[in-house]
Amino acid sequence: MDHFLYRDGALYAEDVPVAEIAASVGTPFYVYSTATLERHFRLFDEALEGMDHLVCYAMKAASNQAILKTLAALGAGMDVVSGGEYLRAKAAGVPGERIVFSGIGKTRDEMRLALEGGIRQFNVESEPEMEALNAVALELGLRAPITVRVNPDVDAKTHAKIATGKSENKFGIPITRARTVYAHAAALPGLEVIGIDVHIGSQLTDLEPFALAYAKVAELTEALRADGHDIRRLDLGGGLGIPYTRSNTAPPLPTEYGALIRDTLGHLGCEIEIEPGRLIAGNAGLLVSEVIYVKSGEDRDFLILDAAMNDLIRPAMYDAWHDIIPVIEPKPGAAQQPYDIVGPVCESGDTFARARMMPPLAAGDLVAFRSAGAYGAVMASEYNTRPLIPEVLVHEHQFAVIRARPSFDEIINRDTIPEWL
Ligand code: LLP
Repeated sequence: MDHFLYRDGALYAEDVPVAEIAASVGTPFYVYSTATLERHFRLFDEALEGMDHLVCYAMKAASNQAILKTLAALGAGMDVVSGGEYLRAKAAGVPGERIVFSGIGKTRDEMRLALEGGIRQFNVESEPEMEALNAVALELGLRAPITVRVNPDVDAKTHAKIATGKSENKFGIPITRARTVYAHAAALPGLEVIGIDVHIGSQLTDLEPFALAYAKVAELTEALRADGHDIRRLDLGGGLGIPYTRSNTAPPLPTEYGALIRDTLGHLGCEIEIEPGRLIAGNAGLLVSEVIYVKSGEDRDFLILDAAMNDLIRPAMYDAWHDIIPVIEPKPGAAQQPYDIVGPVCESGDTFARARMMPPLAAGDLVAFRSAGAYGAVMASEYNTRPLIPEVLVHEHQFAVIRARPSFDEIINRDTIPEWL
């Protein structure tokens, strides 16, 4: 459920007409709903009720500080994957003890930053990383709290580019080697082993891969405890999928996911951490764009939008489907026709949808891409010297620009000319 609904024939973001935002900030832009972000965070928080837990929002999904602050105010922790994300979370007021640091390639500088600024734990992904973290922690006279990310070798049944839990993926250490790796970690004086981490992929639409992975984590917890490790925290990653279209069967709900966690891991008495990104932000955001031209091709019509693949890369990169709806509600039973919906960038990959059934649209009409809140703005680029588009946050009847569109001067002046030119 989200808060982007038609009212009296026009699309609203909570209590604000989307067309009013477009008139004020210009298109294209991203708009997020506070109520949807809050609702999704609470769904997870409530699903884990009764277990000691922390929901660490995977801020890579949408990392504007206004979004982070909205979630942090509800008690969210953050899952960060770079020094930049760590600093961004801190700047939004998230305390170090609620920040977990994931990722396979943490540099020593990033480790230092997080150790000095305070960190809940590092999710370590290899033995070389363990050695490096040990060295940095000892240099600073500290002990770094760690989990080791294990790769359970399960098929997440999602798009190959976002599956992470198979042995051929670059993530984690093979679960079969876990006891050896934990023994190594325990021997390093700069590290404090506190738990286990697992994350098997993103946009999972079935609970079974989670069930398989978590059963393996349960078994490993017992084995590591028997080896003398004080395993007290389990980080279960993110990955629960969202409905990208209303016509498909819906993925499992956070309550069902929570029940699975309780059933597979509840008996261990560990603190549970999860790192959802997409489910919190995905359906909390729209990308709003204007039709520039309607062009008739040989055998099809093209809707040429002012948004392009640089603004939303997901269709080009993952063949992702986003529902695209007109901002003016079509009349019930209105005629529909197929359009190829494209952006202005000079490559054919800049196609959002093919033969998409839409009501007839004309230049100047507004359309909204649904489910664009996660991995939308954060993956945008300035390809074709197209400025990063603004982000807007709605709260009931108010809206605010939370990242402004840069001017062309700002973009151009970022380049510097060497003295020989
Ligand atoms: N934790 C870790 C360690 C992750 O790598 C990820 C996502 C998450 C949590 C959050 O997963 P989520 O709950 O959002 O599924 N750009 C792609 C998605 C990449 C996901 C990367 N890792 C897309 O647009 O579909």
